[in-house]
Amino acid sequence: MNTKWTAPRIRAAKGKQRLAMLTAYDAATARLMDEAGLPLILVGDSLGMSALGYANTLPVTLEQMLHHTAAVVRGVTSALVISDLPFLTYQISVEQALESAGRCLKEAGADAVKIEGGAFRAPVVRALVENGIPVLGHIGLLPQSVKAMGGFRVQGRTAEDAARLIEDAKALEAAGVFALVLEGMPADVAQQITAAVSMPTIGIGAGPHCDGQVLVINDLLGLTEKPPKFAKAYVDVRTAMQMAIAAYKTDVEGGTFPGPEHCY
Ligand code: KIV
Repeated sequence: MNTKWTAPRIRAAKGKQRLAMLTAYDAATARLMDEAGLPLILVGDSLGMSALGYANTLPVTLEQMLHHTAAVVRGVTSALVISDLPFLTYQISVEQALESAGRCLKEAGADAVKIEGGAFRAPVVRALVENGIPVLGHIGLLPQSVKAMGGFRVQGRTAEDAARLIEDAKALEAAGVFALVLEGMPADVAQQITAAVSMPTIGIGAGPHCDGQVLVINDLLGLTEKPPKFAKAYVDVRTAMQMAIAAYKTDVEGGTFPGPEHCY
């Protein structure tokens, strides 16, 4: 069995090991990731789009995150499990953030939480970290701000925006994040951020220069109907499922399943 990954161990991996992270929403998938030796599993609020049929992450509730985080935790022995705090469960006050994040650790067994936002989020990050809750930061394209951004738009394209992202990363570093997700930004901006901070950066749609990468599991498996440009499908599970479902239907309708070998 691999040794358990902890937030300090992830932080110390910078410059020594590139970090592979995937999202998971259930125990069976998380177990496969854990067996493959993945150090980081994110129970992302992408749950809303990947599994619950929502158009974006905004409707996802803390109860749903707790339910799916607990399932993932049950499938894992060594990976660090991070629970995403959903929209409006940490923005209202530091107290609200502490309560929501605390429930992820206390009730669902998460090892850490992730919250979206830059320098303005530093006081919340600091309060969580000071109270023993490891925090994964998240800057760049912020899916919970999809309405404010006017869509899922790449960030940091102008020199001014890029400079702001670097300042955001430094503010979150000072507040104590153990690692930082960089989503949807030019590769050279992610490279500058990665060079500027002491904790690992984990990229998604942020090019090859980050300390690690994260993908949504549905994209990796080829389950997403219209995958984003940055994603890579390593297998075509969508087609495999379509074929299996159609073959099963044909068998049942034709009376060839169950056969004698499936009977007691
Ligand atoms: O919710 C999620 O899956 C995420 C990753 C894409 C980083 O935030």
